[in-house]
Amino acid sequence: MASILDFDNVQISFDKRPVVSDISFSLQPGEILALVGESGSGKSTLIRSITGLLNDNGRVTGGSINYKGKSLRGISEKEMRNIRGAEIGMIFQDAKSSLCPIRTIGSQIIESMSAHGKVDKADAKKKSLELFEKLGFKDGEKLWNSYPFELSGGMNQRAGIAISMLLNPSVLLADEPTSALDVAVQKQVVEEMLKLRELFGTAIIIVTHDISVASAMADTMLVLKEGRMMEYGPAKEILSNPQNDYTKLLLSAVPRLKRG
Ligand SMILES: Nc1ncnc2c1ncn2[C@@H]1O[C@H](COP(=O)(O)OP(=O)(O)O)[C@@H](O)[C@H]1O
Ligand SMILES: [Mg+2]
Repeated sequence: MASILDFDNVQISFDKRPVVSDISFSLQPGEILALVGESGSGKSTLIRSITGLLNDNGRVTGGSINYKGKSLRGISEKEMRNIRGAEIGMIFQDAKSSLCPIRTIGSQIIESMSAHGKVDKADAKKKSLELFEKLGFKDGEKLWNSYPFELSGGMNQRAGIAISMLLNPSVLLADEPTSALDVAVQKQVVEEMLKLRELFGTAIIIVTHDISVASAMADTMLVLKEGRMMEYGPAKEILSNPQNDYTKLLLSAVPRLKRG
């Protein structure tokens, strides 16, 4: 199968100082890749580089990033806007802050879908309620009419994930989507992402410093330390038989979430 996203020797710099170097991996359709490493190791930088969301002083300074065989380096902001959301979805740690606090989930869904082409409001709602149901939300109608402030952190995150899926992206980038949540809710978010892959074949890159989340979800794993790849390969192998001392350290004494 042709890969969907390829990094080849990628280097990313802030103010010309490289912070992430020599990154190579490829993501297959439907694959879940966990990007792990301690805070400051370059995880967010790496996934933000994919959709051109580095800060102004950040730049991809080496190598190539290809999406479905097409280079994402140096494409115009206009082209990138078409890819962002509709081809490559993104969710972040703080779902609340990526949702507008004063508008209902439903109106934000309509807005997000309209940004990528004409939508019929009734259609958008029907499609959303269908997805909510598939994802096991108890009261989709109520969720549709809710404001983010009326929802718990976990529900905001779950709604944010559902919203990003309504555009049918082939890849979902999730930056620490469970880090702000308590363990029971983390499990629901993990299960929701696994369900999305099952339903839509979405490939996912999940950034996490939580090995239990990686072990519950990932097919493959990339361990980053100070912007460099320590280890990359099948998650099962890395988790059961880490080769690298840093990986061993990360893996020590972590309770594992079981796949639900
Ligand atoms: N806008 C920026 N300007 C300069 N340095 C930055 C910027 N953003 C991130 N960095 C640096 O890049 C490195 C990686 O950061 P980050 O990708 O946020 O790590 P992680 O997500 O793994 O915690 C850190 O050393 C951080 O200080
Ligand atoms: Mg980060």
